[in-house]
Amino acid sequence: MVYSQQSQAQTPVKVAVSGASGNIAYSLLWRIATGEVFGQDREVEINLLDIPQAVQAAEGVALELEDSALGLLSKVNVTDDANVAFDGVNAAFLVGAKPRGKGEERADLLKGNGPIFGPQGAALNSHAADDVRVLVVGNPANTNALIAANSAPDIPAERFNAMMRLDHNRAESILATKLDINTREIEQLAVWGNHSATQFPDLTFATARGKQLIDEVDQAWYTEEYIPRVAKRGAEIIEVRGKSSAASAASSAVDHMRDWVQGTNGAWTTVAVPSRGEYGVPEGLVFGFPVIAEGGEWKVVEGLELNDFQRERIQANIEELSAERESVSDLL
Ligand code: NAD
Ligand code: LMR
Repeated sequence: MVYSQQSQAQTPVKVAVSGASGNIAYSLLWRIATGEVFGQDREVEINLLDIPQAVQAAEGVALELEDSALGLLSKVNVTDDANVAFDGVNAAFLVGAKPRGKGEERADLLKGNGPIFGPQGAALNSHAADDVRVLVVGNPANTNALIAANSAPDIPAERFNAMMRLDHNRAESILATKLDINTREIEQLAVWGNHSATQFPDLTFATARGKQLIDEVDQAWYTEEYIPRVAKRGAEIIEVRGKSSAASAASSAVDHMRDWVQGTNGAWTTVAVPSRGEYGVPEGLVFGFPVIAEGGEWKVVEGLELNDFQRERIQANIEELSAERESVSDLL
């Protein structure tokens, strides 16, 4: 094996992925192990975490990773112990959780999935590296991230994110199709709030080819078709595919962590981060905001003038996430 000078000089990035034998992980692991997140010159060591009943299947995934002869993958470990999985990790993808089925809302999963995230937050607190970045994917992602962050008092809360990049990518893609443009051309789009049917994909500031895109679409299409279509896309996938999104979720997790680590060069994206009170969002709620990434940190885009429609939609998300927080007060 030929190592670049840089990879010889740097120790591998240590990464944990929970839900390692599940659907999302089966796409995500290969993307991490081929340098798409931490760079083409950086080796990775990956810890696979799953529950005892699924550890054998996770061992099988590890064998397949080995069989792929990936030059950047220095080591794969498999465990059912979060304390082992999170030992020294620089990044953790918390995917392991039950997906919803047809007719369920993501919040219906809170009772079953919420209790996973307190112990995992505590294990990260005790064992992760000082620079750990945690991306919660398991649903309902925002409130699960809140629970995990709350159980990790020594890790800065902003290192716990919930994934809303899939919503962001859907919002770009559905808009690009409507306007017959490329997603790469769209700037300043964001999805506010909760990874739920209440989320607010906001076109107010979006531009492409020097145009304000809100002026390029019909208002009725925007409010009656576009917003609900983006917000309910997860349910549409479950209806059509028979299972919840997996490869697109993995792809969005890659986008999220890569941008967090490598930066966005001033471009906006969407991340759910613990609020510091921006735009009247109560402190601590893990809320989707327009952000840029710079120097390894997310920065919420501040100072935007919001109109009544935007405020109303954001308020609906505040109310929903506040109610979710209230409903898990025993876990906080
Ligand atoms: P899956 O059922 O295929 O896999 C889930 C895996 O998690 C299983 O291997 C299971 O054994 C494991 N698991 C369960 N409890 C665990 C625990 N305590 N510790 C470690 N592992 C545990 O599900 P999937 O399709 O991979 O989806 C995983 C989660 O991601 C679901 O909650 C789903 O709703 C959510 N999701 C979120 C988004 C998003 O945009 N935020 C997108 C898609 C899916
Ligand atoms: C998604 O948005 O695809 C995921 O959150 C899965 C779901 O339950 O919709």
